[in-house]
Amino acid sequence: MEISGVSRTAIGVAWLRAQERLRPDKLFDDPYAADFVMGAREMMAEAASRSGERGRAVGALFGKHVVIRTKFYDDYLLSACAAGCRQVVLVAAGLDTRAFRLDWPAGVRLFELDLPDLLDYKERILDAREAAPRCERTVLAVDLREDWAGRLVEAGLRPTEPTAWLIEGLLVYLGYEEAAGLLTAIGSLSAPGSQLSCEDRNSASESLATRVREAPELAEVVALWKGGLGTDLGDWLTRDGWQVRGHNGTALAGTYGRADAEAAYVGFLTAVRDGSAERTS
Ligand SMILES: C[S@@+](CC[C@H](N)C(=O)[O-])C[C@H]1O[C@@H](n2cnc3c(N)ncnc32)[C@H](O)[C@@H]1O
Repeated sequence: MEISGVSRTAIGVAWLRAQERLRPDKLFDDPYAADFVMGAREMMAEAASRSGERGRAVGALFGKHVVIRTKFYDDYLLSACAAGCRQVVLVAAGLDTRAFRLDWPAGVRLFELDLPDLLDYKERILDAREAAPRCERTVLAVDLREDWAGRLVEAGLRPTEPTAWLIEGLLVYLGYEEAAGLLTAIGSLSAPGSQLSCEDRNSASESLATRVREAPELAEVVALWKGGLGTDLGDWLTRDGWQVRGHNGTALAGTYGRADAEAAYVGFLTAVRDGSAERTS
């Protein structure tokens, strides 16, 4: 198994989802997460031995956020479909298995974008499990820092119809201009009624990031961070023609029965494309 660089982060997220599956009060049930981890067990064992006590403590903290974010985005996507979207794009899908585990309405066409090595690995594991998607699923290997929009349209995305975009766990790995380029492309493919969701940079995400930076064992993770649009994200999206709404991670955790004073619950943004706003930046 050859997964390198930033794509290795997807295995860590799968591990966290596999842990959630063991809980009687699980907020979602990912039947494939453990298979993704097993397929990469040497890499995981090596990472665990390097991360040490402090790294594991931060990993547990990050895990609480990933659980809330998975549940929040599950609900976001189903609600966007209930509002009329029949196209879903998982931007940097990683080892996301929503195509297989969510109860999609009829007619949903879902696209998964990520780097080639990661998607090769994912498809191998899913094929071995004979996993069957619950919607029409298309996998597209792209580098999201490059010009990918045309390839998505060639693969079947219809820019004249509303799309639900999910950008989960990605923007921090892109530089400002790369993130702005990605979001500009998304905007150009988004008909009125399209929706978008991603993490928001706030005090909780800063506190989590500080804890990661304080653990020298996690220097490899920190080296991957490029900051995305930082705290400018919401304003940038508004200028680009999205109606943006913020969601407080701590409040969501309480709603989901996971209130935890020790956790750093990162917030989220959802946005709707109304088609009337002019881009001003
Ligand atoms: C932390 S993982 C999140 C994956 C998934 N969204 C989730 O939450 O499970 C980050 C993902 O971003 C992908 N990624 C990072 N940079 C990328 C790029 N330039 N083009 C495509 N995918 C990229 C990685 O391969 C990896 O799968």
